[in-house]
Amino acid sequence: MNKLQKRDLKHIWHPCSQMKDYVSFPPIPVKEARGPYIITADGQEIIDGISSWWCKSLGHSHPRIRQAVQRQIGKFEHVIMANTCNETLVELSERLCRLMPGLGKVFYADNGSTVVEIAMKMSIQYHAQSGSPKRTKFLSLENGYHGETMLTLAASDCEIYSRPFTPLMTWIPKISDVPYLSGPDSSEWLKMEDAQWKKTENMLDDWSGNISAIIFEPIVQGAGGMLIYSPDFLRRLRKWTKKNNVHLIADEIMTGFGRTGKMLACEHAGIVPDFVCLSKGLTAGWGPMSAVLCSNKVYNAFYSDYSKGESFLHSNTYSGHAISAAAALEAMKIYKDEEIIAKVAKQSCELRRRMEWVASETGALENIRGVGYVVAGDIVNPRTGKPFPPEARTGFKFYQNAVKDGALLRPLGDTICFLPPLNTPSDVLDALAEIAVKALKKVVG
Ligand SMILES: Cc1ncc(COP(=O)(O)O)c(C=O)c1O
Repeated sequence: MNKLQKRDLKHIWHPCSQMKDYVSFPPIPVKEARGPYIITADGQEIIDGISSWWCKSLGHSHPRIRQAVQRQIGKFEHVIMANTCNETLVELSERLCRLMPGLGKVFYADNGSTVVEIAMKMSIQYHAQSGSPKRTKFLSLENGYHGETMLTLAASDCEIYSRPFTPLMTWIPKISDVPYLSGPDSSEWLKMEDAQWKKTENMLDDWSGNISAIIFEPIVQGAGGMLIYSPDFLRRLRKWTKKNNVHLIADEIMTGFGRTGKMLACEHAGIVPDFVCLSKGLTAGWGPMSAVLCSNKVYNAFYSDYSKGESFLHSNTYSGHAISAAAALEAMKIYKDEEIIAKVAKQSCELRRRMEWVASETGALENIRGVGYVVAGDIVNPRTGKPFPPEARTGFKFYQNAVKDGALLRPLGDTICFLPPLNTPSDVLDALAEIAVKALKKVVG
């Protein structure tokens, strides 16, 4: 362990980690990061195969975003967003409000969990102010993930993160029977089985009078295991929610800005939800920022005299942070100028082919699935074809070996995922797959 690592571990409590693990495998000392690489203090180049928690969609240190941020710093770095306006934020908002037809209003926060919770609060308050005060409940999907605040943990279905806090959490029922698939070439991509939908519909009908909104990650559920499901499910949900005066809250925090080969993953289903939550790729990982898009109909339910008490009085200190906004505006221009989304859609099968190659070289991956620049597979014992027991920590050992060999691939349990920056050159993707093979072989023997 070097000096920096020792100083780090003396004081820093790292996120989503068992700190004891760092004793045998200390934190990676980062000196700089460029394009798809993180560069360590001793000069090792590590491919960022998960885009630093799925946010560095344009890689590290994109020169255009660097310049945009520097220009903004030359003007001002942050001013209170309530009661002020500025050119950068207005132009960014104009662009965001063109992403989905009918979603012409945007509210800003500074992280993903908060913005999902904002959408949930807006939905409840909307119903209370629109003659449906009994609509105070939510539904969400099995295996979903929406963040780490108490309400978003409750909307999530990841027991590993929520277990200690369950006594404090409101109960949000989960919709099961989600039609999972391996990707767009599955036969049920366009049409799921009617019988399967019927089960969901029965559950929805039981709750219909009390629900304010259904929260979901469109097409790909990230932290729950990179699970992909049929867009037809979303089409049916949209139809049902419209008929029953229930909102749809699309959590596009991971999927938004091209990750699935569309600007927004809801486009796969051709649906317009009532709320769309954005973060991560919004600033291409350059600054904390999140945003929720909503319709004029929602907005108008809050628009009245102050004395009526119908305002949405939510505030975050860093809402609309100017440096993040400058990065986000430039990122949106780059997505367009560099035709990032079209390239992801075109090269999607190339990324998947590489994960399939890892599977065939090792015999230790099954259930390969993918859409756009999200590909995943589950580690199995090549001798038995069965998963390893959780206490073997196979995914964690794979992570350690991959880092040593030059790739940052932080598996979800024993699920290996490739979510590289959307502009990663193909020779780097080859190297990523080669490192994954090497690391996996070492782990499974
Ligand atoms: C789909 C989804 N929703 C919400 C969040 C929470 O975002 P944040 O970590 O910025 O709070 C994440 C983070 O990974 C996410 O993937």
